[in-house]
Amino acid sequence: MTAIDAYIESHRQAFVDDLAELLHIPSVSADSRHAGDTRRAAEWMVSRFKQLGLATELVETAGHPLVVAESPPVPGKPVALVYGHYDVQPPDPLGEWTTPPFEPSIRHGNIYARGATDDKGQMLTHVKSVEAWIKSGQPLPLQVKFLIEGEEEVGSVHLEPFVAENRQRLACDCVVISDCGQFAPGVPAITYGLRGIAYYELKLIGPRQDLHSGTFGGGVTNPAGVLVSMLAALKDADGRIQIPGFYDDVIPLSVAERQQFRDLPFDEADFKRQLVVDGLSGEAGHTTLERRWARPTCDINGLTSGYQGEGAKTVLPARASAKFSFRLVPNQDPAKISSALKTFLEVRVPPGIRMELVDHHGAPGVVVRLDSPYIRAAAAAIEAGFGSPPVYIREGGSIPIVNTFARELDADVLLLGWGQNDDNTHSPNEKFSLADYQRGILASAYLWQELAKLPA
Ligand code: BES
Ligand code: MN
Ligand code: MN
Repeated sequence: MTAIDAYIESHRQAFVDDLAELLHIPSVSADSRHAGDTRRAAEWMVSRFKQLGLATELVETAGHPLVVAESPPVPGKPVALVYGHYDVQPPDPLGEWTTPPFEPSIRHGNIYARGATDDKGQMLTHVKSVEAWIKSGQPLPLQVKFLIEGEEEVGSVHLEPFVAENRQRLACDCVVISDCGQFAPGVPAITYGLRGIAYYELKLIGPRQDLHSGTFGGGVTNPAGVLVSMLAALKDADGRIQIPGFYDDVIPLSVAERQQFRDLPFDEADFKRQLVVDGLSGEAGHTTLERRWARPTCDINGLTSGYQGEGAKTVLPARASAKFSFRLVPNQDPAKISSALKTFLEVRVPPGIRMELVDHHGAPGVVVRLDSPYIRAAAAAIEAGFGSPPVYIREGGSIPIVNTFARELDADVLLLGWGQNDDNTHSPNEKFSLADYQRGILASAYLWQELAKLPA
């Protein structure tokens, strides 16, 4: 590994420059005004894979394109499939960024930009580690395939059928994903569980147009009032979701796993300081880590109704809408949640209001087995790259395609996150530590070596 280590050390700046180039491209998948930029990011990925001499293809879908690339097969060795995403979340609210979201800026050892950690920076660590092997004159010790998509942040709807229809092409022994986090600075982690998601938009339509709230208020049903009471009905004071049947398929946490969570060095006071809140709340009877990682929940993601301008306006709004989503745990089925939710809401629509419920996307949660030689290889690689062995954690976010990989490819999934909890993913001032970027590249380079020690 010495030549590879040396390449990684001497290319520190070049790796950062290349990441900055990708971060310049505003590949916001949710916003159709950025469709051209999103394609540009895909083309940028294609150019990088081609520079490494990999067999590369830009695959069109009904949405944003996929990028598929692979190094030559190595007989007798396992095959690793790297999954990542080149799309990013919208950068709003723009006013809260210290430097513009698509003009990457380096401060205090971090690179700031939308997508810095989620997922451009983390995903590139695997491209750069492959570069380090190839450019330092060592053929990769196993075959590495890449599948990089542009729709992760909008639910991976077009990737799903592609994986099912290309099982042969994507065939592998393990899937490597760096799109989550370490436990804390200096405490790298292997993630063995992610929550699923079910995302909705509720629209309530009242009178033909906005009305004078004095002339009409009290006599006409106000959609904003109905919206808040419908949303409030979703949870009780103990943070329990009130939709009948919602918890039917939830597998309770075992005593042993609850103890494992308690054994992690989690400091609630630090957590509150980081968020600048003076208290926390959630489902009664569960700790903060349990609530965030392994219990289902419901959050309102956006609310729209009535007058938002300066000063007061006495208006009875004609419409009100909310975006909200449930985080699900493994074994809960998003389709079942959708039909139970619909029934729950429909009976709460009063006269004078029409309801529309848009089902945006859903994905089940996942828990992967830890008793696997691939996990042991990843742990050794992380220790070599980061200088400490990983802890084993679950996380609360969702990567919709993970279940599909496990099912269609029958492969072990390695969730190796290089990010930090305070990286501001989906928030203003998203960042990625350049030290974590460099250590991630090193760990990834060691991962290829560790995996190649295993039989195919
Ligand atoms: N990288 C995240 C998922 C993630 C975040 C995993 C934190 C573990 C910890 C991913 O890009 C993401 O944001 N996923 C969405 C999925 C949704 C849009 C379908 C999410 O979790 O909201
Ligand atoms: Mn991500
Ligand atoms: Mn994300």
